Amino acid sequence: MRLRVVTKNITQTLALSKIIAREADAFRRTNRNHALVIGLTGGLGSGKTAFVQGFAKALGIREKVRSPSFLIIKRYIIPKQRGALFHIDCFRLKGHRELTALGFDEILQDPTHIVMIEWAERVRTFLPRQTLWVTFRNAPHRNWRCIMFHTAA
Ligand SMILES: Nc1ncnc2c1ncn2[C@@H]1O[C@H](COP(=O)(O)OP(=O)(O)O)[C@@H](O)[C@H]1O
Ligand SMILES: [Mg+2]
Repeated sequence: MRLRVVTKNITQTLALSKIIAREADAFRRTNRNHALVIGLTGGLGSGKTAFVQGFAKALGIREKVRSPSFLIIKRYIIPKQRGALFHIDCFRLKGHRELTALGFDEILQDPTHIVMIEWAERVRTFLPRQTLWVTFRNAPHRNWRCIMFHTAA
């Protein structure tokens, strides 16, 4: 699957991430044996964290989602449901072992989890084949972003 969307401001990116969140949430309930993983790639300021913010809001998470750069992994309970949303930032990651030490492998194994990873290309080889990849690029105008979705399956 490949899909390219251009958003013209942050409001459109938030709206898009909400639609994806609803689909992802429904998909999560289907038969799976590991977490639903969304790999976010693209430069600084390209909109990765904004996308997670809209996504979390659509799941009913009230807590303000911030860039987890220093924490690396942040966990949000999804209200009224089993499971949690994990927001991971690999920007400052020194190696996969750092994630393993924080319980990354167990997080990926739980089918009730949704795991969103910024700078996910840095841990690509550790992610499930069914990962949904979302790539952010700047577009000709200042507030435009080109957002590409692709999956291997
Ligand atoms: N179309 C757009 N989509 C997302 N963010 C946008 C857009 N236009 C402008 N912005 C701004 O770009 C910045 C994106 O920041 P952020 O989501 O933290 O990026 P990243 O996590 O990729 O470093 C925010 O300041 C946001 O307001
Ligand atoms: Mg970010």
